[in-house]
Order: sequence, then structure tokens, then C-alpha cells
Amino acid sequence: MKCLAASLVLATSLSSHAGDVEVLHWWTSGGEARSVDSLKQMMNEKGHEWRDFAVPGRAGESAINTLRIRALSGNLPDAAQIKGPDIKDWGNFGFLTNLDRIAQEQGWDSLLPKRISDILKANGHYVAVPFNIHRVNWLWANPDIFKDVGVAVPTTLDEFFIVAEKIKKAGYIPLALGEEPWQEATLFDSIALATLGAADYRRAFVKQDSDTLSSDKMREALVTFRKMKAFTDDDAPGRNWSDTTSLVIEGKAAMQVMGDWAKGEFAAKGKIPGRDFICVPAPGTQHQFAFNIDSFVFFKSSDKRKVDSQEALATLIMTPNFQRIFNKDKGSIPVRLDMNLSDFDSCAQNSFNAFTRAAASDKLVPSFSHDMAVGRASQRAMFDVLSQFFNNNDQSIDETLRQLRAAVMAANL
Ligand code: GAL
Repeated sequence: MKCLAASLVLATSLSSHAGDVEVLHWWTSGGEARSVDSLKQMMNEKGHEWRDFAVPGRAGESAINTLRIRALSGNLPDAAQIKGPDIKDWGNFGFLTNLDRIAQEQGWDSLLPKRISDILKANGHYVAVPFNIHRVNWLWANPDIFKDVGVAVPTTLDEFFIVAEKIKKAGYIPLALGEEPWQEATLFDSIALATLGAADYRRAFVKQDSDTLSSDKMREALVTFRKMKAFTDDDAPGRNWSDTTSLVIEGKAAMQVMGDWAKGEFAAKGKIPGRDFICVPAPGTQHQFAFNIDSFVFFKSSDKRKVDSQEALATLIMTPNFQRIFNKDKGSIPVRLDMNLSDFDSCAQNSFNAFTRAAASDKLVPSFSHDMAVGRASQRAMFDVLSQFFNNNDQSIDETLRQLRAAVMAANL
């Protein structure tokens, strides 16, 4: 009898909060899958069923297109990976659940820097929960290749070209790049940051200032960008970013300019920073920090069990325990700045120090290539312009500057 009563209590308590939550995201590479698996597992342990709707490809472009189609057909998932200014758009359309209560209970306002909490709100209310802070302006390098060629990892753009020439002569691929518009734009992101500096980067891509967008510095950044093409390999077209990172891991390519989700790939293969790979700021961006914040939003539902599961997921993401486990696998640093990172690797510790220094010296910028500065439509147009220019020497620089300015300024429309 006692036993029956106990199992009844257990059954009621499970069913009172056990729901399922369908989550649309694009985390499918080795490191990404590892990090999201811990979230699935923690949700399951709390009695909620995670239904995975993963759409890989192009840093979220395919996933967001799918989400839009599902919204049009009135078949939204329960949660989705949406970030940057797009959060406000979905919020203003009235699709998103208000997370103020959870935010207040967990003290998000005091845990998050204002630049970040602003991104997560629509009409002054929290509608997205953040996972992490990714740094976009990183260079990943294979130390064995540098040793073999007898050169040092470059810290400036000028050094990059000197070193890349020598690496090429020695028979390695100097720069691992997958020719997909977003990967090319990620490379340009770091070059623009190095060439323009943080203040002009923000002026151009956040404030959409026409003069800065047509400036000599922007021209110089474009020239540098196209010069890098000569140091990529013939198999670059269409190669995804994680296969591209593998070239560095396997000692075929010397360097990759990519956000620190690349570190998740090194880590998933058991590689140790300092020994098996090197992380340094992208050339010329030592003091700057281009940030990329991953976040989930939750679509409104009238099903109480779903709402419970959505709330459980939103709450879990900001807990210190989850932030620690997830970000170690993902390559990013926790978005909660109250955490001690002494058990994180040296790249994460560098990232944390760089973030706090950049925040204090106003050198923090929202990465345009990772949805932080302009909405997806404008960003897509920028990617096309940059990719055209990078892959086609006949594309004139004047025309490219004009098109880039038009693409960025379209964000105002
Ligand atoms: C970014 C995303 C990262 C990473 C990357 C590649 O846009 O913020 O978390 O997963 O795409 O998929």
C-alpha cells in the first residue's frame, strides 16, 4: 500500500511538470552537439522530454529559414535559437513568451552586462535567455606547422601575409577557409575590426554611418580581405566550418580565423590549447572583442505542460552548473560574469580577460557576421556582396563599397 502511494506521488509529481519541448537549433557539429547534449540530458533528468529539431548549415541560416516557414504555416516549435536584433523583431510581432519573472528570480539584470541584456529584450521585457559569450575575432593555429616552417604566429595583418607566404612555400595551406558566404564574412569581420578599430566598426555596422561605410579604411579592409584568398586552398568552395577546422587539427592548414566554437571542435577531439593548438586574437585585434551571444526564445503556448517545460528550460540555461558544463564544450565563456573560470582552459580565461578589458575600454563590438549588429535580411545582403568581391577579381572595389553601404543601410528600412 505504502509502495502504491509512493508511486502515485511520484507519478503525479512527474506528470504535473513533465511535458515535451520541441527545440529548433543548428548545433550539430562535434563540439556543438556535445554541448547541447548536456542540456537535453539535464532536461530529461528533470522529467521533460526534449524533441530535437536540428537544422544544420551556414551558421543558422538554414535553421532560421525553416523557422520562418514554420511560422507562416502556424506550426512554431516551442523554443528556437534566435539571436541579436532579430529577437526584437520576433518579440514585436508578439510571438515570444515574456521571461521577466524568471529573469527577476535569477537576477539577470545584475548578472549580465547591459550591452547584452538589451539584446535579450523586446519593449523592455526579457524574451530570450542567453547561453554564452563567443569571441569571433580569434585565430586558431597549428603549432607543429609554425615550428616546421620556423615562423611565429602573426599578431598583425602585415605579419600575417609574411608568414602565410612562407607557409605556402613549405607546402601547407596557410589559411583554412570554407568558401561559404558566412565564413568569408567572419574573416572580413576580424579584418574590418583590425583596420577600422572598435569605434569605427560600430559606426559602420551598428550606427550604419554612410561616411564610415565608404571610408578609406573600409576600402583598405576590403583590399586586405581579397588578398587573403591567395592563401586558401582549392577545395575551399562549399566546405563547412568544422571540416575546415579539421584541416588545422590534422596539420594540413596552419591557421583559421573563426569564432571560438572552433575550440569546441579541438576539444571534442581531445586537443589541448598551448600543446596541440594555439588561440590568439585575430591579427591586429588584440585589444578588441567582437562578441556573439547565443540565445533561445520561447514561443507562446496555451498548453500548461508545455509552458512548464519551456520555463524549466529557460531557468536551466542560466544556472551556474549548466553554464559551466555547456561553455566548456562549446568553446565560449559563461554569460554570467559572476563565475570563477579557474577550471576553464587558457583560451577561455584569455577570452574572459579580453572581454572585461574591452568592456572597460569601450572596445567591445557586436559581431556583424554573427547576427549581433544588423538583422538577418541586411546581413544576408552583406554576405552576398562580400562573397562576390572575395571570389571575383573583376568585381570593382568602388562598386563593392557602394553595395556594402546599401546592404548595411537597408537595416534601417
Ligand atoms: C554561430 C553560433 C555559434 C556557432 C556557429 C557555427 O552563429 O552563434 O554558436 O554554433 O554559428 O554553427
